[in-house]
Formats: sequence, structure tokens, C-alpha cells
Amino acid sequence: MKRIYLDYNATTPVLPEVLEAMLPFYRENFGNPSSVHWAGRAVAGAVERAREQVARLINASPAEIVFVSCGSEGDDFAIKGTADALREQGNHIITTAVEHPAVLETCKFLEKRGFEVTYLPVDSDGMLDIAVLGKAITPKTILISAMWGNNETGALFPIEEIGAVARKHRIRFHTDAVQAVGKVPVDVQKAQVDLLVLSGHKIGAPKGVGAIYIRKGTRMTPLLHGGHQERNRRAGTHNVAGIVGLGLACEIAGRDLTAKMEKVRYLRDKLERGIFAAVPEIKLNGHPEKRLPNTLNVSFAYIEGESLLLNLDMKGIAASSGSACTSGSLEPSHVMGAMCVEVTLAHSSTRLSLGPETTEEEIDYVLEVLPPIVQRLREMSPLYNCRTPMSCEECSIVKRV
Ligand SMILES: Cc1ncc(COP(=O)(O)O)c(C=O)c1O
Repeated sequence: MKRIYLDYNATTPVLPEVLEAMLPFYRENFGNPSSVHWAGRAVAGAVERAREQVARLINASPAEIVFVSCGSEGDDFAIKGTADALREQGNHIITTAVEHPAVLETCKFLEKRGFEVTYLPVDSDGMLDIAVLGKAITPKTILISAMWGNNETGALFPIEEIGAVARKHRIRFHTDAVQAVGKVPVDVQKAQVDLLVLSGHKIGAPKGVGAIYIRKGTRMTPLLHGGHQERNRRAGTHNVAGIVGLGLACEIAGRDLTAKMEKVRYLRDKLERGIFAAVPEIKLNGHPEKRLPNTLNVSFAYIEGESLLLNLDMKGIAASSGSACTSGSLEPSHVMGAMCVEVTLAHSSTRLSLGPETTEEEIDYVLEVLPPIVQRLREMSPLYNCRTPMSCEECSIVKRV
């Protein structure tokens, strides 16, 4: 059976050259980078090289990069580390209703510790209204946390505008750029970001490594206490092989980023056009243009997203019905809820996310296989068989683009 991977927003395959670069650090270069002897020195150099590679991709200085274990740890650190360090200044945090659970759950935790959190709404395209952000700011606001690109819909927030608002009000700005890095240009100077999080396994590095950019001079309370690693910002012996992999993956991501993503965008658009041409009564979730070039999220009226996923899986196609963290739950995703997607459509939302390795043949195969699956599932659906004709306005289903 063919195996077609269209779930790059969940995770990506480790790039062969990344794996090659990592292997010596499991074998002969096994030292601890904190050791002063030869074994440690050889490895410390590799960690610092990786720091430079990560910094270059996002236009930061190497000293502003702290290695962490994953995107979730980075987001947790950004938010809790700020909340603790700036507690005397205020207890108000602004975030958005569509953030990844790594941000939302951390904010909920802080609410139980006496912080106030404003969850900004989004419109039906998943976009943030910058005027709404301005109105939410109070003298007690210490942090704005807004993601760069949404993991479910790919919607791209107006990061530079948010950064400008945060800077004007002298409020710290954190962005979860886990989905954006490697897919769109990310520049911490242009965006006026103070804290930015990225994750290795979304860009061809292994799972278990990530990084947080902390703008020079930003006061943070560490999340992990212990050793003096990472200039006292993050205790714990380095995941050297992972860090080396992350560094190289960042370097590779930055090479010909525009050309690579144009190819991905072309294939994503072909997939989108093909699905909309072949399947009636479907809805695009997310902004049609302001979107990560690899992400397509579609709701298929009358069917459950989970049934579609299982049927696609039987044909060798890996897709997702939302973020991997929320799959397993039958609740419709909080992102669809925040976009006011009608509940049955929210249940049928399906995410197809492409990567640099995706081929045109794979897209053609999906276009051949998906429409008959949808038709078959609809024929088995009581909702479909009992449907009454509805106009687009009444049911908010887009028939065709
Ligand atoms: C937007 C976003 N933020 C954070 C994370 C968490 O990253 P990690 O899996 O490295 O913990 C993810 C993972 O899906 C994500 O998509």
C-alpha cells in the first residue's frame, strides 16, 4: 500500500543529513558540554555552532538562544518565566482563544495562581483584530502571547502589528512560532518579539529538542532549577545530539526557504482546488491567503472527521482532525469553536499539512481517493440522507470556490 504523509504540522521526518550529523554525538563525541576536559570541549563547540545556526534563521544573536526540550517547554517557560519575573509590575496576560494548549493550559494554570488572562477572540477566518488587542491592554498587562501561525488552520497572525502594539505599550511579547519557523520567514527584529519559541520535530530535527529566543535584557525566572547550563536560564545536561540536529535543521530550513515553500504552496493549492472541484458542500477553515503555505483545513458537511481520517488511513494517507494533542478527544477543536464554525462542520474538520518532501504524485493520489471516500461516508450518514436543501447563507457551507 502507498504511504502518503500529509501531517507535517504534527511532526516531520528527521532529515537524513540531520541524522548523520547527530550520530557521532551518540558515539565518539559522547562528552558532557559542561565538562572542561577534551571530551566536553569537543561537544561544547558543537552546541555553540548549533546556537549560531538557530539564531541565524530568526535574525537573533546566539546569546539570545536557549535550548529546551520541546515547544511546549518553551511556551511554558516564556509565560511562567515572565509571570514570575514581572509579578510586581502586574498580573494581566493577554493571549488568544486559538493558541496551542501549550499556551492555553499554562495561562489557565496561572489564572489559578491569581493572574488574570484575556483570551482575545478571532473572526470566522481565525484572524485577530488588532484593535481588539489595543482595547484589552490595561496598566497591569505584563505579557502578550500570540502565535505566529496556527497549527490547525495555518492562519497567520499580523505579528509585526502585534509587536508594534506591544512595543508602544512597553509590554513583553511572546510568540509561539512552532508552526511558522521553516515555513515562512521569521525575523525577531522586524516583528519586535521579546520571546519566540520553536520546536525541532516540526522542521526535520528529532523530537525532544527546541529553542526559545529571549531578547537580550529580558528578565525571566527559570522553569528548571539545578545546574548552570544555558547561562543559568535552563538547568539540565544538554541533549547534545538533538541540539546538533536542531542547528542543522534550522540551517537547512533557511536555505531557499522561499523557493521550497512556493513548491509546497503550489501543491497545497492544487490539493485545495482539486478537493473543492470534486466535493460539494465543504468549507475552508482558516484565512484563504494569510495562511501557512503548507496547511489546508477543510470541513466536509454530513460526515465525522474521524471516519474520514480512518478511511484515508486505510488508503495509506495520514492526515489529522486537529492538533495531535487534541485527537483522542471527541470534542470539536477549540480553534473551530473560536472561529464559530457550526458544530457539525467543526466535527468534520480535517487538516492536511504538506512538507518539502511531498510530491505531485502524492497529491494526485489523494485527489483520486478522497472524493469517493467522502461520497461513500455521506451515503451512510443519516444527516446526509435526511438533509433539506439549505442556502449557503443559512448553513454557512461553501459549495465551491
Ligand atoms: C503551535 C504549536 N505550539 C506548540 C506545540 C508544542 O510543540 P512540541 O510538540 O515540541 O511540544 C505545537 C505542537 O504541535 C504546536 O503546533
